[in-house]
Amino acid sequence: MAFDAGFCSAVEIGMNDIHMDTHIIRLDRSRPLDEQIEPAARSIRAGGLVAFPTETVYGLGGDALNPESAARIYAAKGRPSDNPLIVHIAAVEDIRKLSSEDSRQLRLAYTLASHFWPGPLTMILDKSATVPDRTTGGLNTVAVRLPSDEAARALIRQSGTFIAAPSANLSGRPSCTTAAHVIQDMDGRVDYIIDGGASVLGLESTIVDLTAEPVTILRPGFITEEMLEDVLGSEVSTNAALLPGDRPRAPGMKYRHYAPRGELTVVRGDREAVRAHIGELAAESDSQGYRTMVIDSGSGDINEYARNLYENLRYADDLNIERIYAAAAPAEGVGVAVMNRLVKAAGGRVIDI
Ligand code: TXA
Ligand code: MG
Repeated sequence: MAFDAGFCSAVEIGMNDIHMDTHIIRLDRSRPLDEQIEPAARSIRAGGLVAFPTETVYGLGGDALNPESAARIYAAKGRPSDNPLIVHIAAVEDIRKLSSEDSRQLRLAYTLASHFWPGPLTMILDKSATVPDRTTGGLNTVAVRLPSDEAARALIRQSGTFIAAPSANLSGRPSCTTAAHVIQDMDGRVDYIIDGGASVLGLESTIVDLTAEPVTILRPGFITEEMLEDVLGSEVSTNAALLPGDRPRAPGMKYRHYAPRGELTVVRGDREAVRAHIGELAAESDSQGYRTMVIDSGSGDINEYARNLYENLRYADDLNIERIYAAAAPAEGVGVAVMNRLVKAAGGRVIDI
C-alpha cells in the first residue's frame, strides 16, 4: 500500500524512516485457511514483521528467537528497546522451551495454563538460554502467552517458531483493536497485516509474575486477581503502580501509554453524579471553543466499555478532539483493568466527585 497521512504521525514523533510494502490479508478469524496464513508465516520465518489479530488487541509480530526481528519490532513501533516483548506460543508444552527448569514456576504456570489458556493471560518466568536478550529487553525473565484467537495460533504454528509481539500501535498511542487502526499506525512499517475483524476483548492481557512470591499481577486484565487466587488457592497481589525511581518490573509501565492526543479527564464517583458532572464539564469545554467528546459506559456493561475503549480514544484523535471526559469504571473485576488504562491515558488526571 502507498503511504498515507497515517505515516506522517510516525514522522512527527521523531521516528526514523522505514519504507516497505505492506500487504493486507483479509480472513475469517474463526476459520483461517493455511494458504491464507502461509505468506505471513513465511515472512516471520524470514525475519519479517506481521501484524495479527488476537482476542485482546492486535499484535506486531516477529520471530521471537531471532534478535534481528526483535530489533525491527522496536524500530517499527518506535519503542525503547529496554521494553521487553511478550512471546506468543501455540502449545502449552512450549513453556518448557522458553523458561528455566524452576519447578515452583513451572507448577504455577501449568496450573494457570490449564484454566486460562488459550486466553488473555501472560505469565512471566525465568527465561531459558533459547530466548535472545533482545526479545526480553535484557531481562533474565520472559513473558509467555498462548492466545485463543484461531488466526493468531495458526500464524504461530505455521511460522514454526514463537512470535514476539507487542501491541500493534505506535509507541504511546492507544492499542489497536481493528485492522484499520493497525493500518493507521503501521502501513509501510510491516510486511503483512492480517485483518481478522475487531478484537473481542479490546484490552491487553493480564500479566502475572510467577517469579515473585506471592505471585504478582503487573498489569490487570480480564483474568482478575480473584480468578487467579481461586485457581492457585493462595494469595495473589497486584502491583500496577510503579514506585518512582524503581527499576520497573513491567518496564512498559514507565512510559505514558494508550494516550489520545487530546486532554483526557476521568471522572469518578456515583454513576448518576458522574454523568451529570461530565455533562457540565463538556458543555463548559464546548463553550470555550474546544472540540469536546464524552466517553460513558452507556448501558453500564463493563465488557462493552472495555471492548470500545481504545476505539473511542482513537476516534477522538480522528476527529481532532481536544478535550475528552470519561466516566470511571467501578474498581472491581474487569473494571480494574479499564481504570488502569484510562488513568494512564489521562496521565493521572482524575476528578473525584
Ligand atoms: O494482550 C496482550 O498482551 C497484547 C497481545 C498482542 O498479545 N500484547 C501486549 O504487548 O500488550 P505489549 O508489549 O504492548 O505489552 C507487554 C507488557 C509491557 O508493559 C512489557 O514491559 C511487559 O509486558 N513485559 C514483557 N516482558 C516482561 C518481562 N519479562 N518482565 C516484566 N514485564 C514484561
Ligand atoms: Mg502496548
